[in-house]
Amino acid sequence: MTACKLSVNINKIATLRNARGGTIPNVVKAALDIERFGGEGITVHPRPDERHIRFRDVYELKECVTTEFNIEGYPSDDFLKLVESVKPHQVTLVPDSPMVLTSNAGWDAIREQAFLKKIIDRLKQNGMRVSVFMDTDLKQIDAAAATGADRIELYTERYASGFEKSPQQAIADYQKAAAHAAFLKMGVNAGHDLNLNNLNYLIKNIPQIVEVSIGHALISDALYYGLQNTVQMYKHQIKSARE
Ligand code: PXP
Repeated sequence: MTACKLSVNINKIATLRNARGGTIPNVVKAALDIERFGGEGITVHPRPDERHIRFRDVYELKECVTTEFNIEGYPSDDFLKLVESVKPHQVTLVPDSPMVLTSNAGWDAIREQAFLKKIIDRLKQNGMRVSVFMDTDLKQIDAAAATGADRIELYTERYASGFEKSPQQAIADYQKAAAHAAFLKMGVNAGHDLNLNNLNYLIKNIPQIVEVSIGHALISDALYYGLQNTVQMYKHQIKSARE
């Protein structure tokens, strides 16, 4: 079975820092520690209001992150300028409007196909891998493939919210979507609302997933278990699913 990477979204560390101003907790140190503890990627989502990760953080992180650096966000002019100057390994395009609390839907890749294609061409020409945040609709995934995206990131909120009631039902559409994306030669990432309860089942039952991006639950768990233990607990959930 192929491996699945854990990319840790460190937005929440920046949210905590910004609550007081200053540099505690230190976002760069947290990223380096996460890598030291076994994290295989660092994800950030700079938003126009800089309410968590600031554009300056992204430049600082670029200088020191040695694992996969993933920058996600809406492709505004400012965002594109940032990623083209930082050149992360991966850019994940999300359709968020600027003030939304957190990403809450995948792209309408049918409607936005021409817009996405233009941006994806531009980013790929600059050497970045591009992933697009998507729901599980197969027609939408066809449209995502036509944009030239290298990967999709499946928006897993619906899986997570249905998991307690029926894991089998909650995962069914995701299995079809991942298989369809792989058939169309796109890689499959997944993220949003993943946690220590629902992660293993997802990874075990969707062999196409090559990367998960996890923030809120992981950073919250770290309050109880510590960052080192927590990163290792999440990695264990992933690794044991693929053995
Ligand atoms: N993927 C995308 C596109 C996101 O916007 C977020 C939240 O910033 C995540 C993954 C991670 O979600 P969570 O914080 O619920 O783990």
